[in-house]
Amino acid sequence: MCESRVNEVSTIVRNIKYDRHVYDSENVIEKENPYYSKKYEEAYKKSITNPEEFWPEVGKLVTWTKPWDKVMDHSHPPFTKWFAGGELNACYNAVDRHVEAGRGSKVALIHDSPLTKTVRKITYAELLDQVSHLAGALAKLGVSKGDRVLIYMPLIPEAVIAMLATARLGGVHSVVFGGFAARELCARIVHAEPKVIIAASCGIEPHKIVRYKDILNDAIEWSSHKPNKCIIFQRRNVECAPIDVEMDILWEDALKMAGPHECIPVEANDPLYILYTSGTTDQPKGIQRPVGGHIATLTWSMSVIYGMGPNDVWWAASDLGWVVGHSYICYAPLLYGITSVMYEGKPDRTPDPGQYFRIINEHKVNAIFTVPTAFRVIHREDPDIEFGRKYSIRSLRTIFVAGEHCDYETKMWAEKTFNVPVLNHWWQTETGHAITATCLGYGHNLSPPKYTAGMPFPGYDIKILRSDGMEASNNELGRIVIKLPLPPGTMSTLYQAPERFCQVYFSRYPGYYDTMDAGYKDEYGYIYVTARDDDVINVAGHRISTSALEDVVLAHPDIADATVVGVPEHTKGEVPLCLYVIKRNAKKSEVAISRDLLRMVRELVGPIAAFRMAVAVRGLPRTRSGKTCRKSISDLARNKEVRISGTVEDPTVYKDIKAALQKLGFAHTAPDPQ
Ligand code: COA
Ligand code: AMP
Repeated sequence: MCESRVNEVSTIVRNIKYDRHVYDSENVIEKENPYYSKKYEEAYKKSITNPEEFWPEVGKLVTWTKPWDKVMDHSHPPFTKWFAGGELNACYNAVDRHVEAGRGSKVALIHDSPLTKTVRKITYAELLDQVSHLAGALAKLGVSKGDRVLIYMPLIPEAVIAMLATARLGGVHSVVFGGFAARELCARIVHAEPKVIIAASCGIEPHKIVRYKDILNDAIEWSSHKPNKCIIFQRRNVECAPIDVEMDILWEDALKMAGPHECIPVEANDPLYILYTSGTTDQPKGIQRPVGGHIATLTWSMSVIYGMGPNDVWWAASDLGWVVGHSYICYAPLLYGITSVMYEGKPDRTPDPGQYFRIINEHKVNAIFTVPTAFRVIHREDPDIEFGRKYSIRSLRTIFVAGEHCDYETKMWAEKTFNVPVLNHWWQTETGHAITATCLGYGHNLSPPKYTAGMPFPGYDIKILRSDGMEASNNELGRIVIKLPLPPGTMSTLYQAPERFCQVYFSRYPGYYDTMDAGYKDEYGYIYVTARDDDVINVAGHRISTSALEDVVLAHPDIADATVVGVPEHTKGEVPLCLYVIKRNAKKSEVAISRDLLRMVRELVGPIAAFRMAVAVRGLPRTRSGKTCRKSISDLARNKEVRISGTVEDPTVYKDIKAALQKLGFAHTAPDPQ
């Protein structure tokens, strides 16, 4: 990006008018350090050196039915407890307290679906009515404190209602993303053992109807655990599903089953939800989120990170099946009492690439949170903004991106197009909120250095470690770790797997949380996240485990060996590539096997994996201890020079792999692997 463009954007950014409480230029000592913020420095330092004094200020932002006894209990690391002994209810804080304060007529949710051509607005009072009645139904079906409710729904308000109704009873929800296939859903049902499942008849994608109820029926049939009942929301304006009179209750009948249910207080460290995410094995990890610290931190983040005011409109363009959806479509905006937009559509083709602009214009959106991929597709489909130009986007103040690496071209394009700062921040399902960010509430410089994901958010004592465990110097690449304790709101454990929790995250670097991301820190303290350092890949901002894909591939009867790696792709950032070795006595041809693999992954993992490349090779690079050298393969696809490790059993396989990659269109001008 040329220098003049950078200056132009900086001018735009400086000219933007922010509320005084949000952007305070006097707070920035420009001459000494253009990025210095006194407010931030003081807050950050206090959060690390004196957490017992820092966090109560955040805790006070939500309503407690019983005050906490102890701010932090770090006696059994890594199982830190925050606000120990305090009691509260997440649903009360997200819904009831706004209605009690006289803000019942305020719009809580705007559901905008170009796929069904509908816009629905739901006020806080309406939300309370539906949530409390659904909670009544759940209670009648046997759900009480600590019981799990699994939710399998598309991005519709009923999914938020289901989450809040579960939380109202002190239950634990587990939302499963609709793009996963029945096998993945089944694995989650078996693990979470829900008493009730709440599902929709279908989801809707641009080119197909996704029959959620059919997928659910298969998953329940295969599952060793059966729920007591399923509550089914029929999407009458799309497609209804056949109902099993024994097992299923219609949503509208459930709402009439019982009266409204009150909020049940829970202890601050009780679980609010379980959210399954990909790990380095084929078994997803059930991230368990504690209620108290999480809802307090989320409420606070709306002003301190995102600079939202009490009358603002917020839009997180994600899905409730991901952590961004949990935190920033459902909980944070509602806890903060503002309006949250739910957009059921794609950025580029429902029906055109002008939709982001239309939504901003129509709902007067003040800030967006999305993934860089969304801008890459709009840019690709409508480089001159012919579709978007007709809408006014004057209400927009800021765009926040996360979920994957944000390339500079995309950031600059989005800044120029939307005429607001595009602020990258880094986080994980495990943390539930940003680990690093540009904090509007602290008056951070809105033109942070190129490529950075921001400054460490309070509570995160971030270190960059070399492979020998020593701390890296400034600008030196290493593993990003966080010194314990992790701040309030981050995961408390892995559901029913505390040993795995300790082993996965805390065993490699004792005393630290291992983020499994690689990156570096600069002289100003900014953090840069370069890549995932394990076997997880990031497809259009979705986290996919290569092991889970390999597991499916290896089940093919004609395959002797296989590996799946992430390779670069222009729009989605990264997509999976499978290299496999055919058995000597194989019954099928390579073409037929590859076709089988694409179908198997769609059926068993789901279309969201975007698994479209599978090719046969003579052999795979394996070390003598049996490890596949995945990184060297993905480096080859990235046109990087590959140095063959001395422990690789058969280095000649690289020649064949290089040829296979070239056939797929990957250029390789770097020297041959040696
Ligand atoms: N339920 C069922 N199926 C779903 C689904 C859902 N909620 N979401 C996606 N799918 C399916 C799609 O229909 C597609 O199936 P196909 O292979 O039959 O076409 C497949 O999963 C891949 O979907 P997607 O990743 O959306 O790819 P795409 O090519 O259709 O669209 C983008 C690409 C970039 C437009 C899309 O990924 C996107 O909007 N991403 C940005 C926003 C976002 O949601 N980020 C989430 C992380 S915070
Ligand atoms: P998830 O748990 O699905 O939110 O994915 C978390 C992973 O996404 C992180 O471990 C990173 O690898 C990646 N990620 C999230 N935010 C960023 C970012 N701003 N820059 C680079 N990678 C990111």
